[in-house]
Amino acid sequence: MTDSPKRTILLLNGPNLNLLGTREPEIYGHETLADVEALAQRTAAEYDLAVEAFQSNHEGVLIDAIHEARLTKAGIIMNPGAYTHTSVAIADALSGVSLPVIEVHISNVHRREAFRHHSYVSPVAASIIIGAGINGYRLAVQQLAHLIGR
Ligand code: DQA
Repeated sequence: MTDSPKRTILLLNGPNLNLLGTREPEIYGHETLADVEALAQRTAAEYDLAVEAFQSNHEGVLIDAIHEARLTKAGIIMNPGAYTHTSVAIADALSGVSLPVIEVHISNVHRREAFRHHSYVSPVAASIIIGAGINGYRLAVQQLAHLIGR
């Protein structure tokens, strides 16, 4: 362990979020995953923080990324996509690493199908940002910066 404070946030996007920009733009907008990651990076820089961004369509790969953050990251911002509604394993991984977690959903999941109303991740998240479009990622960085005392 180093004495220096951890300065890097892990930004994790789950399945199908690589298709942002072309995927159901009436729900998710026209901005791409690259736009999301750049927005998070710009916002983090305002707080002297850095962002490591990663996207995967695979549950176990996301879990590995969460584990790897344990000793090196200041916190995790995660949009788990559809795994939000299905994955006990991702929720367990997030609670297992003891880092502050901000859960983000681009769309307002509570205005959508009933199966999107339940999140396994919410009970282990410090904060939840839903329905703010991609600006939710900006809000998430600001909130995480606040939580870690930046
Ligand atoms: C989502 C909402 C989920 O229900 C959906 O499966 C996604 C994206 C959102 O950002 O609004 O993939 O997490």
